[in-house]
Formats: sequence, structure tokens, C-alpha cells
Amino acid sequence: EARAQTGTSAFTFDEVKAGVDETHHVAAGYDADILLRWGDPLFADAPDFDPANQSAEAQARQFGYNNDYVGFIPLEDSDKRGLLVVNHEYTNEHLMFPGIVKIVDDKLEVAPADKKRVDIEMAAHGGTIVEMTRQDGKWRPDRNGKLNRRITATTEMEVTGPAAGHDRLKTKADATGTKVFGTVNNCAGGVTPWGTYVMAEENFHGYFDGDLPANHPEAANYKRLGLPDSSYSWSNFYDRFDLSKEPNEPNRFGWIVEVDVMDPNSTPKKRTALGRFKHEGAESIVNKDGRVVFYLGDDERFDYVYKFVTKGTFNPDDRAANMDLLDEGTLYVAKFAEDGGMTWMPLVHGEGPLTAENGFNSQADVVIEARRAGDLLGATKMDRPEDIQPNNSNGKVYVMLTNNTKRADDQVDAANPRAKNAFGHIIEIAEQDGDFAATTGTWEVLLKCGDPSVADVGASFSTATTENGWFGMPDNCAVDSAGRLWVSTDGNSPEATGRTDGLWAVDTEGEARATSKLFFRVPVGAEMCGPLFTPDDETAFVAVQHPGDGGDDWEGFGRLSYYEDLSTRWPDFKDDMPVRPAVVMITKQGGGKIAV
Ligand code: FEO
Ligand code: CA
Ligand code: CA
Ligand code: CA
Repeated sequence: EARAQTGTSAFTFDEVKAGVDETHHVAAGYDADILLRWGDPLFADAPDFDPANQSAEAQARQFGYNNDYVGFIPLEDSDKRGLLVVNHEYTNEHLMFPGIVKIVDDKLEVAPADKKRVDIEMAAHGGTIVEMTRQDGKWRPDRNGKLNRRITATTEMEVTGPAAGHDRLKTKADATGTKVFGTVNNCAGGVTPWGTYVMAEENFHGYFDGDLPANHPEAANYKRLGLPDSSYSWSNFYDRFDLSKEPNEPNRFGWIVEVDVMDPNSTPKKRTALGRFKHEGAESIVNKDGRVVFYLGDDERFDYVYKFVTKGTFNPDDRAANMDLLDEGTLYVAKFAEDGGMTWMPLVHGEGPLTAENGFNSQADVVIEARRAGDLLGATKMDRPEDIQPNNSNGKVYVMLTNNTKRADDQVDAANPRAKNAFGHIIEIAEQDGDFAATTGTWEVLLKCGDPSVADVGASFSTATTENGWFGMPDNCAVDSAGRLWVSTDGNSPEATGRTDGLWAVDTEGEARATSKLFFRVPVGAEMCGPLFTPDDETAFVAVQHPGDGGDDWEGFGRLSYYEDLSTRWPDFKDDMPVRPAVVMITKQGGGKIAV
């Protein structure tokens, strides 16, 4: 199919040049200030970051590792006060701890973890809630904020919704099946219309080790989720991460977690009505009938796109009345038809194949094994669904599909149109009659990603897109207040694309549709998360995740790897400081809306 020939981008900024080096770059005329970095103290009494003498106690009072989702919740006097909420998806031991790495036969070897290290890792996971104040157009975190909070892999949480208290969630430590400690691998997320923070539990399988007892009934459930994976050593010190000792613990992860940020002592809730899978994000929109619709990706090759529609309606005048909206509603899984139509199929116990004959004895079983329910309904197997963003300005929904190099020629379909899809694509959904709760809609491919100058790639950026403007591997995204789409990426690298990850502005309307421009790029080894625009569009927050990550060419504390001639100590550039994931604040010099 031909690439669009025309179009002047609606985004007014001069593009950054794509490439790779040790630092970040933003479009000319903009400031990119480091707002919060791993280890920054979040409370008046929190210790300063001391990377050579880190402790779990200190880490639990400091900004966590690998910032991913970034959300903003306005407070009273909202152009000067707000809450920043940030997910800390995972930890990179080889970049965090000095002296644990050596090179053996050209390969990186990481020393086995002791309990102290595991405890620091657990404290570096989860999320951060921090008050910010704005002065002279720039936001600053407030260490004295009364709402400041760290959530970690040990924070007590309550399970609510259809799976709460079910036998499959009961453990030796919790006979009620309702009390879980911690959240892990919180990738993207969302802020609800009623001002709570939702965290998606993505690759939770990596924290579990050990073998299930023989013939255990969860064997097929866990296999479908890749459990166990044992990327971490937590099971050596905490039995609950060992399947042979606590076979039900993995059923207590893989959920959407909701946090009431206005009460720093509130118990976060795992909202099981939204299903259990490798949750990427949970962006939402208030439908015209007042129900709230959450779009949910399951980030795995050949897994599904979901949405959840609340039963109750949003009450803008009574925050308390909304606080349990996520416990009742309908979870749907998407089927993309070849003709551009689509169906949202309900995952409801007793309907269709979701019956006792197929092992679904209640709605609890349906949500615990949402993937298997989707399998039986014939949902469309997608190329790794990541962040999904509804757009209130035009009624559309954007689905980031990051890549799937394992799709074979005979597995290609209209919604996943490329075999060995290395660079991913973006689908645009139009719900029926602009009704986000509709069970039918239409869709089209907005963009096939990758280098459009390489014919074999089959990318579909408009011809107005420059050599800097194309990207691969869309991951997180945001829609600004003007309804414009911004896409951040995960997987560009000097080897794959000759460029780092970054933030691109993508036209969706008119003749410029499928034109893309590079606004910000990350230092070597990093991926780009966030992004998030404040309601006035005057500030963009982006999250630089795992800067300096490489692999097997390590030369010591804070050095990276894959890139032999490059190293970075971003953002401090000090010999005694490791590379540090950080949230960056972007503002226009002299003030004003971004890219307008
Ligand atoms: Fe954590 Fe799907 O990216
Ligand atoms: Ca992601
Ligand atoms: Ca998003
Ligand atoms: Ca990612």
C-alpha cells in the first residue's frame, strides 16, 4: 500500500536528530530538566542516596528504580500544586550494585544475590507518589508533602472483586485469600477520573521460582503465563515466591492495583474484576453515559487487547461514591475482523464457553484465567499489546503493538499484517457511534513502524516524515489536551535501528496523518517511558528507564555494555554515581504550550 504523500505536521517544533550518545536531547527551544532520579529522598527525614552503602530502609524512603508510567493528579490550586505518581517497573542489579559483576569469557556474570540485595530490590519496586509545587513555570518535588508515599513489593494490599477470598488465592500466610504483600513489575498504568492511581502488574512471572507439587491444578494456568521464570532470587529468601512452598501465590499477582493517593495510609486494592494477565496499562475515559471504560493490554506475543466497562457511573461531585467502581463491571476481549470491523466479547461466567465444563466454575475462575477465557472465545492474537490510549477529542482509541518477530507467514491477519514483525504497529479503533462502552466498532492500522527507506520493512509513515521522524517498537503513549498523539518507544538501539528510543509526535488527523517527528531522545541503553502532559499542556514528563543498560561488556560500576565505544553516567556524570533512571520535565523556554 502506498505511503501518504502529503501533510504538514500539526506539531510545531524543530525535530531532534536521531542518533545515539551518552545523554538526552530535546527539541531546540525546550528545557529538559531532571526532576526525580533513582535514590532521591522523598521525605524530610529520608537519607541522601549513597549508592555504595544502600539499604532497604533507605530505598523505601527514596525514589525507586526503573520509572515507567508517569501520572499527574491535580491538587487544589492545580496550576501550582499536583501529585506525580510513578511506577517502578523492575530492577537492574548489574547497574545498581557496585562490585557484583565480572566478565567471564566475554560474558557478564552477576554474583548471586544475598538477602540484603534482595530487600533493596523489593524496596526499589512498586510506585512513588510525591507532591509537587510549581514556581516560575517549573515543577519541583516537595519532600515535605503530606501525601508523599512509597509503595513497594512488601506493601500490604487488599484483594477485591470476583476473585477476592477464592480458594485459589489462599496461602499459608493468608487463609482469607484477600491480603497480599506488594506489587511488582508495574509497567504502564493510569489515573482514574476520580483521581486514584492505577498500577498494572505486568511480567510478574519473573519473580517466581521452584516447581509446583506434582499434578497441581494450577499447572496449566501457570504455563500459560510463563511461570516460573526465576529472573530474580527472591524465592531464596521469601518462601512465597517459591511455587513448591506457596503454590497459590502467583494467583495473587497479575492484577490492576488501585491506590487512593489522598490518604497515604490507605490500603492499595488489587481489583480482580479487570482480569489477571500481564497487564501493561489502564488508561480510562468517562463514557457519554457516565460509565468509565478502561483499556487494557496484555503484553505477550499472541495475546489480547481488553477493555473493562464499569457497571456504575462516575460521579464528578462525590469522590467517595466512585471509590469501588472498579469492583463491578464487564471485562471484554477484542476480536479484530478482517473487514475492519471488531467485536468486544464479554468474559462473563456462564456465557458461551465460559462454563464449568471448561473449568470455569465462577467469575473468579474467569478473571484468574482471563487468557484462557480469551482463547476459548477466539480473541485476536496480537503483536504484543502495550499501552492503549482513548482520545476524548475524536472518539478514537490508539493501541500500541510493540513487535512480534515470532509471527509466521501463515499467522498474518489484517490486524497483525506483517510476519516477523520487528518494529510493531499502531491500531486506531473507532468505537461504534463514539460509545466507548460499545461492543462493536471499526479499526484501521494507523501506522506500520520501522525505517520507511528500507522497502522490505513495509513501514507506512507519511512521506513528510524525515529520517529522524520514523521509529520502531511503540510502547507507551499519551494524548495531550489538544487530542494529539505522542508515542514513546522500547527497543530502538544502535544495532537494531542506529538510534535510541525516544518520544515522537504523531499526526492522526487530516493530510498529515501518519507523519511523525522526534521530540526527545534518551541516552544510550535507555528506553523511553511516561510520557505524560499536564492538563495545561505546558509540561511534559518523560521517564528514562534503564539508562546505560547493555549486557555483556561490563567494565565496572555504572558502565554499560553492548556499545563498546560508549558509556554513560547519566544523569549525574560523576565517577561515584551509577547511571540512574530518572523522570525528566520538559517545558518550553519562556513558557507556553508544548509543540503549539
Ligand atoms: Fe513493561 Fe510491556 O512493557
Ligand atoms: Ca510498556
Ligand atoms: Ca499512556
Ligand atoms: Ca517497556
